[in-house]
Amino acid sequence: MKALILSGGKGTRLRPLTYTGAKQMVPVANKPILWYGIEAIVAAGITDIGIIISPETGEEVKTKTGNGDRFGAKITYILQDKPLGLAHAVIVAQPFLRNSPFVMYLGDNLIENDLRPFTEQFKARSLDALTLLGAIPNPSEFGVAKLDENGRLLQLVEKPKIPPSNLALVGIYLFSNTIYQAIANIQPSTRGELEITDAIQFLIDQSKRVEACQINGWWLDTGKKDDLLEANRIILDTRLEVAIESEVSANTQIIGRVQIGPRSQIINCTIRGPVIIGSDCQLENCFIGPYSSVADQVRLIEADLEHSVILQGAKVLGVQQRIVDSVIGQRAQLKVALQHPKALRFLVGDDSQLELV
Ligand code: DAU
Repeated sequence: MKALILSGGKGTRLRPLTYTGAKQMVPVANKPILWYGIEAIVAAGITDIGIIISPETGEEVKTKTGNGDRFGAKITYILQDKPLGLAHAVIVAQPFLRNSPFVMYLGDNLIENDLRPFTEQFKARSLDALTLLGAIPNPSEFGVAKLDENGRLLQLVEKPKIPPSNLALVGIYLFSNTIYQAIANIQPSTRGELEITDAIQFLIDQSKRVEACQINGWWLDTGKKDDLLEANRIILDTRLEVAIESEVSANTQIIGRVQIGPRSQIINCTIRGPVIIGSDCQLENCFIGPYSSVADQVRLIEADLEHSVILQGAKVLGVQQRIVDSVIGQRAQLKVALQHPKALRFLVGDDSQLELV
């Protein structure tokens, strides 16, 4: 079995972060979202992985992710010239996939479950398609499934205004080579994309072997700021390894589960985990509260934050008001001269500078 990860597309919903970078490379707990998918695929025993990239952000994905050695996998990059849809990406990848069955994994999705039970179900039941479903309150921004009383898949609709159920399509699918014939028979949707949802519906209509499996763990599509913060919270809660690789000053207090990378300077701070701090950071007179991720080369002086993600090279200087629920882009600077309200809420893009005076 092979795997195809989709890491192209436009990333419009995470702007401004994604003006300068791939949305799949935005870090969750200091690791690119995409890498969690690669690790899950490798953990399921699949090591031949194709990654769809776009002309705009492909270079970044390639340079940072590499040839797969670090994951124990072989990665082939496949350029999709335009984001013409998930099913279009499958056609572009056909020379790589050949006739192999494959897992298709959307590069901005994260799930708690192991993939192996799904690959086993797919093989054992000789399926043409297996979709994963997650129950969510309002699934109208997703593909939505309608099942019969026995749990059999009847219908899939992409982003319906009135969803036929609360079961959203998770961005992980398993396909046999019958998917190419299905894609050849569908037309672009109203948003101008070849939808994989429509291709699966075609397989259902042709009475092919299509099943759906409801996942029981958490599932996140990290396409928006709040989803990104939620992913960060869950990963810090469940997967953070405690390790302090830098010197911390005697007047610094570390409480709970905290990871600090090498060559960082931590002076007179209170760090209340779960928190991850990268390498080569400088933190002085700060409170870093739960569910915060601070990437490499970040400088925080007199800063007070919690439940926030600070990206590489950002600076927060003299902001005594608590920064909450915020994402601060790469190399952004926040500098405060005066006292201001108790809480500030930001989504600040890469290279931005904010001064509150
Ligand atoms: O997250 C699950 C949802 O993903 C499903 O419920 C929907 O049925 C499915 O259509 C998809 O919806 P989105 O609108 O969220 O897909 P998005 O455009 O965000 O693309 C998903 C990933 O695939 C993302 O990492 C970008 C990449 N992509 C997207 C397109 C359209 C490509 O690589 N090429 C493309 O042409």
